[in-house]
Amino acid sequence: TGPNEELSARLAKLNLEAPESIEGSYPGYNVVDLCRNFIAGQLSKLAGVDKKIVYESLEWSIVLEKGDLIVPLPRLRLKGDLEQMAKDLAEKFELGGYLDRVVPVGKFLQFFFSPKFLLDTVTVDVLKRGTEYGSTPLGEGKTVLVEFSSPNIAKPFHAGHLRSTIIGGFLSNLYERLGWKVIRMNYLGDWGKQFGLLAVGFRKYGSDEELANNPIQHLFQVYVKVNQDIAFEKEESEKAGVPLDETSSTDGQARAFFKKMEDGDEEAQKLWKKFRDLSIKRYVDTYARLNIKYDIYSGESQVSQDTIVEVTEELKEKNLINEDKGALLVDFKKLGKKKLGKVLVQKSDGTSLYVTRDLGAAIERKNTYKFDKMIYVIASQQDLHTKQFFTILQLLGYDWAKDLVHVNFGMVLGMSTRRGTVVFLDDILEAVQEKMLDIMKQNKEKFAQVEDPKQVADQVGISAVMIQDMQAKRINNYEFGWDRMLSSEGDTGPYLQYAHSRLRSIERNCNVPPEDLLTANMSMDNLCGTEEDIKKQNLSEEDYERQIRNLHLRVEKTTALIRIMASYPDTLRYASKNYEPSTVVTYLFKLTHQFSSTYKYLRVMGEPQEVLLARLALFSAVRQILNNGMKVLGITPVDRM
Ligand code: ARG
Repeated sequence: TGPNEELSARLAKLNLEAPESIEGSYPGYNVVDLCRNFIAGQLSKLAGVDKKIVYESLEWSIVLEKGDLIVPLPRLRLKGDLEQMAKDLAEKFELGGYLDRVVPVGKFLQFFFSPKFLLDTVTVDVLKRGTEYGSTPLGEGKTVLVEFSSPNIAKPFHAGHLRSTIIGGFLSNLYERLGWKVIRMNYLGDWGKQFGLLAVGFRKYGSDEELANNPIQHLFQVYVKVNQDIAFEKEESEKAGVPLDETSSTDGQARAFFKKMEDGDEEAQKLWKKFRDLSIKRYVDTYARLNIKYDIYSGESQVSQDTIVEVTEELKEKNLINEDKGALLVDFKKLGKKKLGKVLVQKSDGTSLYVTRDLGAAIERKNTYKFDKMIYVIASQQDLHTKQFFTILQLLGYDWAKDLVHVNFGMVLGMSTRRGTVVFLDDILEAVQEKMLDIMKQNKEKFAQVEDPKQVADQVGISAVMIQDMQAKRINNYEFGWDRMLSSEGDTGPYLQYAHSRLRSIERNCNVPPEDLLTANMSMDNLCGTEEDIKKQNLSEEDYERQIRNLHLRVEKTTALIRIMASYPDTLRYASKNYEPSTVVTYLFKLTHQFSSTYKYLRVMGEPQEVLLARLALFSAVRQILNNGMKVLGITPVDRM
């Protein structure tokens, strides 16, 4: 049975009937959608407004104090005294079932779901669906291509590539969770004069053995050395006052080699391919540490010459091109888009440019993968470039240009390791693992219990880097701070890992088979106790009052927790619209903070079996959501640390 049948069965048990499902809602997958349908049905009758309009007016509340859902009455297109109407409508709402309270605030209606209802539906739903909880088939039948990371071979892997890797990895996982077919693509900087330089440099400084062992580092070393030679030769020739020899100089040789590559010379291409293949082989391993596996290693080299010629022809046909001393360019000013400036699409020697290759690549990808959406995860330094090629595609009349999304992000400041400035992704990962291991060793007792400390250090360390990166809005710059991100206090990756391992340890200590959890009595009375129970104990007035206060705290904390748990599927959907990892990160901190504060009042071990089972079911469900959320972010949750 699918989630929708499951849902009907569950509602029947609660003596509720599933409301009519409004298009675009997924009540079987998302309890908030279910409540949206309930509210839409009721409110449409009470206010005499079309169901669909009510449904669309329902706003997600980020602050629990303001309700679980909010209706701004102006959005219902009603006329009259809206404040009075809000009061009247709130009173007429039938409570019970899914609904606890309706509060009128000005022209707004705040809806509070019944915690009893949520406890009954959400906990079982999470435990049954497990890793699937949070997924909604929103993108069923649709394909999204996500292009991310895209470093340049033989050049440093800088912070921009790191952020692109992290954010792109997240978006790919997220869309997959939401039912899309996801194609992960790495668009390498694998073409250009730098390969000529590498070839010439390799003859002088290269070692096949080094290349096989450490392709990425070795190619970079060669690249640095050959660039030094070029600088030296240039200086010498300037001093001597003689121009550089076009053929014998290192620069001249490099240019000649690249020309051979472009002309399809077999020898030249063979060497280039060797550099590329070995680099990719190493990339595959490094990305694996971040749980990223690409479907395609593409690159600038892969755009066919034919496509580039075709695009250039189309540009000419549509009168979008101007000539300037033999070079071709698009002058946006002449097209009424002054802000976009000018962009060169062909050099005077006939060779293509970065933007031309991006145009060709986009067209080829559309033809090959027939995507419904294509996401480019590229630093905001390339905002203009991206805007330019998106606009050119539009001007060329490709209607799918509207399906292209540029997910941009700010800079990372001060990223360096003990060994110096970071040049490769591996450096960052090694450094963070080392540091994390040092921190773990400080607690000898715990450290002894960890089975594979190196691996745990790797996973916790990586989560530190990732959370630091995804914590704030993408567009913000941030300062890379080892100590801050590795601390287990504050909102950090290690804090999330710590919460996860703590939940795991609760599960381990109770040692209850998972099927048993599904039979737990999830009523608030069972979870938190009742006033009756306390009265029966014949306590002194002081103790009685204290017990009652604690009871109220338990109910309050449990209510807050289950409401957060219920909003996970909505959180994912929201993040897929704003492309912000921080939406999910913020959610996970809200969840873990609420878990810690609830757990203080809701102990598990030592409680009577029926209570233990219910509380354990609740916390197991929290752990499952945390686990799912961390995985979407690209983090591997650890069981002990
Ligand atoms: N390799 C480029 C760089 O390092 C990033 C490529 C971004 N993607 C694109 N389609 N232009 O700057």
